[in-house]
Amino acid sequence: MRLDKFLTECGIGTRREVKNIISKNEITINGKKADSPKEKIDLEKDVVKIGETVLEYKKDRFYIMNKAAGFITATEDSREKTVMELLPEWVNKKDLFPVGRLDKDTEGLLLFTNNGKLAHELLSPKKHVDKTYQVKLLKEIDEKSVKLLEEGVDIGGYITKPSKVQIINNMEILLTISEGKFHQVKKMLEAVENKVIYLKRLRFGNLELGDLPIGGVREISLKDIF
Ligand code: URA
Repeated sequence: MRLDKFLTECGIGTRREVKNIISKNEITINGKKADSPKEKIDLEKDVVKIGETVLEYKKDRFYIMNKAAGFITATEDSREKTVMELLPEWVNKKDLFPVGRLDKDTEGLLLFTNNGKLAHELLSPKKHVDKTYQVKLLKEIDEKSVKLLEEGVDIGGYITKPSKVQIINNMEILLTISEGKFHQVKKMLEAVENKVIYLKRLRFGNLELGDLPIGGVREISLKDIF
């Protein structure tokens, strides 16, 4: 792979920017200063550094974030802060996007990847990827509401698929759904005359938030997802 392509794929900058970086002698290949964007990199064995940092090329990248409230799930927006702003510097952001969506006021597990096919698969209704949410409620929840939520409720002309409710206490539940309709959890609770006052996604398929702090990001691999 050409050095300039390698550097852009590593998220270092645009083709123009990396050309500039190379001309400033900031890149070494196996300890030797690189002087042309056209130099060829052997992905198997060459060690490319920017300053003291070794650059690693990965075709597919996966990261999980514990999303903070106050950020919208989008790659860019002219008015609102986006989840991309929560990604730390070490994350290779080239072609990276969030898989699915959490509301602005929702916290918790958000997956990022540059692999569109995988994202599509995970979001496909046919795949039934389970998502578990911690839900704090405005009002006490009763057994009848739990039964209704589990069986399926009408969220504006659509009946939700069966879900699973675990009761933490009478004002807090864990709700596991296999779908991802717009504002689904909030609408489900509205359908049983309650209201969500705090929402956090704890699990997305096999992925769990664990002890990742709010705003924290961790790189994961494909085998963690399936
Ligand atoms: N359901 C909601 O209502 N909001 C979210 O952010 C996620 C699921």
